[in-house]
Amino acid sequence: MNDRKRWLTEQIDQLRRKKNAVILAHYYQNQEIQDVADFVGDSLDLSRKAVETSAEIIVFAGVHFMAETAKILNPDKKVLLPDLEAGCSLADSGSTFDYKIFLELHSDCVSVAYINSSAEIKAQCDYVCTSSNAAKIIQSIPENRKIVFLPDKNLGKYLIQKTGREMILWDGACAVHEAFSVSKLMSLVLAFPKAKILAHPESSPAILRLANFVGSTSALLRYVTENESEEFLIGTEAGILHQMHLAAPNKTIIPIPTEEDNTCACSECAFMKVNTLEKLYQCLLHESPEITLDPEIGRKALKPIQRMLDLA
Ligand code: 13P
Ligand code: SF4
Repeated sequence: MNDRKRWLTEQIDQLRRKKNAVILAHYYQNQEIQDVADFVGDSLDLSRKAVETSAEIIVFAGVHFMAETAKILNPDKKVLLPDLEAGCSLADSGSTFDYKIFLELHSDCVSVAYINSSAEIKAQCDYVCTSSNAAKIIQSIPENRKIVFLPDKNLGKYLIQKTGREMILWDGACAVHEAFSVSKLMSLVLAFPKAKILAHPESSPAILRLANFVGSTSALLRYVTENESEEFLIGTEAGILHQMHLAAPNKTIIPIPTEEDNTCACSECAFMKVNTLEKLYQCLLHESPEITLDPEIGRKALKPIQRMLDLA
């Protein structure tokens, strides 16, 4: 770590104590942000932490929909996001207007929104789910009810297969997870024939068919830590490799390359990576940028999130 990064880390630490702030970081954040965070986790873990915290300020090192979920759960707290440009290609795979029309067209169905969606869309749905609990949520819906799921078609197809429930799907996908290359994965399998293939359910069906294990980021981390194999090929954003290396330092952990990626074999979410240590420091110092939310939308969006937390 260079002098500037060390100084920033110290300043962040002092500011968080002085201001009674908690720093929540997603596994896809830069290594130095993960290292300074109070808690690192997947989207479900982070939602739970946002409920439990007694801190007055929540600094969310992640993307907008995650920080917005923390605000829905804590309407009276200040929720900060180091860079408001930290969006999500999946959440943005439709306009709010189009999503609403889609849900209205299927108003006879139970509606389930993946957490990668805006507060406005959550507010219109019956349930919210994350990749950790989606199957459980779907299985809890009475068999005689039709289900509409948005926005991720890959997670949706995976859930249809896993739960045996038919669902009407929005045609969205994550630009990072959908880009993993099957042919490059095949080359890795030839080079590491004993490696276990792990993939996040946002990956394409072609990748998921080849995976030995499919799970949320937390589940993939647990698998690497607990499984006796020595080699793993990872189909999710490369930020998770930091915690995998910390938890299993002697194991060989290789990210599955994307189609365009001929250089570092890393698959990185550009939205997650707009957050930097410098921006985290500035954000704590100035208590800005802050997540704001229409209170009425917040109240409506809380219901399906609370249903998820109660069920899962
Ligand atoms: P997790 O639920 O595993 O944290 O996934 C969130 C996400 O955005 C994956 O791309
Ligand atoms: Fe969104 Fe994909 Fe980035 Fe996750 S990895 S935050 S789904 S763009």
